[in-house]
Amino acid sequence: MTTTLPDAPATTEGLTLSLDTTAVLDIRYRLDVSDNLFAQENTLLADNHRASSLGERRAIVVDGALPENLRERISAYFAAHEIDAHVLTLPSGEARKDIDSVLAVVEFLDTVGVKRTGNAVIGIGGNVLLDIVGFAASIYRRGIPWIRIPTTLLGVVDGCVSAKTGVNHRGARNRLGSFHPAEQTFIDSTLLASLPERQISNACGEILKMALIKDATLFDLLEQHGNELVATAFQHPQAHAVIERAIVGMHTELRDNLWERDLQRIVDYGHIFSPPIEMAVVPDLLHGEAVAIDCLFTAAIAEQRGRISKQDVERIHAVMTQVGLPTLHPMFLDVEVHRHALAESRLHRGGALNLPILDGIGACGFTQDVSSNELEAAAARLANLNGAR
Ligand SMILES: NC(=O)c1ccc[n+]([C@@H]2O[C@H](COP(=O)([O-])OP(=O)(O)OC[C@H]3O[C@@H](n4cnc5c(N)ncnc54)[C@H](O)[C@@H]3O)[C@@H](O)[C@H]2O)c1
Ligand SMILES: [Zn+2]
Repeated sequence: MTTTLPDAPATTEGLTLSLDTTAVLDIRYRLDVSDNLFAQENTLLADNHRASSLGERRAIVVDGALPENLRERISAYFAAHEIDAHVLTLPSGEARKDIDSVLAVVEFLDTVGVKRTGNAVIGIGGNVLLDIVGFAASIYRRGIPWIRIPTTLLGVVDGCVSAKTGVNHRGARNRLGSFHPAEQTFIDSTLLASLPERQISNACGEILKMALIKDATLFDLLEQHGNELVATAFQHPQAHAVIERAIVGMHTELRDNLWERDLQRIVDYGHIFSPPIEMAVVPDLLHGEAVAIDCLFTAAIAEQRGRISKQDVERIHAVMTQVGLPTLHPMFLDVEVHRHALAESRLHRGGALNLPILDGIGACGFTQDVSSNELEAAAARLANLNGAR
């Protein structure tokens, strides 16, 4: 076969050439729930290793905050299954969520000799640790697969099906990051047993959000069992139902919008008024705590519009108390702060406010404007719910 090139142009006054390429990136990831992942008779992780990386070394990064006995169990598990596991323990905490920690993981991957494919690095820890490991995996050798095993309730219910990784930089949250979903996530609720109570309550802020926007049954579960769920660190008969509903709810909302191209997202409920307050009062309010107060404040706006009943707003307040969440921070009474938050939110969403607003418990729509009078009235209602006359 011969190919004939077109005749060369008579004159060549500099090259002009434009090429357009559109490529599609195939993403496939999987989540499995299995309790007691590190019990030696549970072969899920060992089978995963045999299927994907037989004979390979395995790089594992664990959260330094995990109890000693759990870290020993993790090492013993891989040894019992004759997997050549190399473990890096990273100090955890938001203050260490930076590029230096990412580079420490990169150095570790080099030392272990991790290859480009078929040798996923495993992260075991809170979302801070997982955001670091996921980001390192996304840039190492232009991207290697990683496996996520969350050990905080927040990591289980908010993050487990997310594609986002990242670290803080120059004082800005998640300023450096990537979309690089873990190829596999393993959820084991027994890993949550050692979590401090405040961390459990904090995650309940995100579970409450999910319940309010789309799952009245999930709200009922929190209302009926919230107290015991928190007191037992989610080692309770209803914990599986709550975790499952929260994960499935998140998955349904994210799966068709993984790259966040659609900026009208009901999962942003509770995340419009809270960000500037959360940043301003660090460390007084954890993320889920600030989100929960925002959920209540925004419900008060919906109440004025007749979209949710007075009783249902009171039920939200009661559930927050039950799961150990704060129901007020003085900054939520400052209408100027809220006006600023609305302006910021518009900037992030290409000029549209897209404020999710409840239609009763378990349903949600959007509004494009909130007046200063409404903000004043919602702040007064928040104060009133918290006992002010
Ligand atoms: N990638 C995403 O989609 C996504 C989603 C939500 C949040 N995030 C990020 O997650 C971070 C917050 O996550 P987090 O709440 O998991 O915080 P975290 O990772 O800081 O964990 C909270 C605390 O619990 C400790 N800990 C973890 N597991 C433990 C266990 N089993 N027993 C005892 N202590 C344990 C941690 O070391 C830490 O001190 C933020 O940086 C946020 O930006 C990311
Ligand atoms: Zn959140």
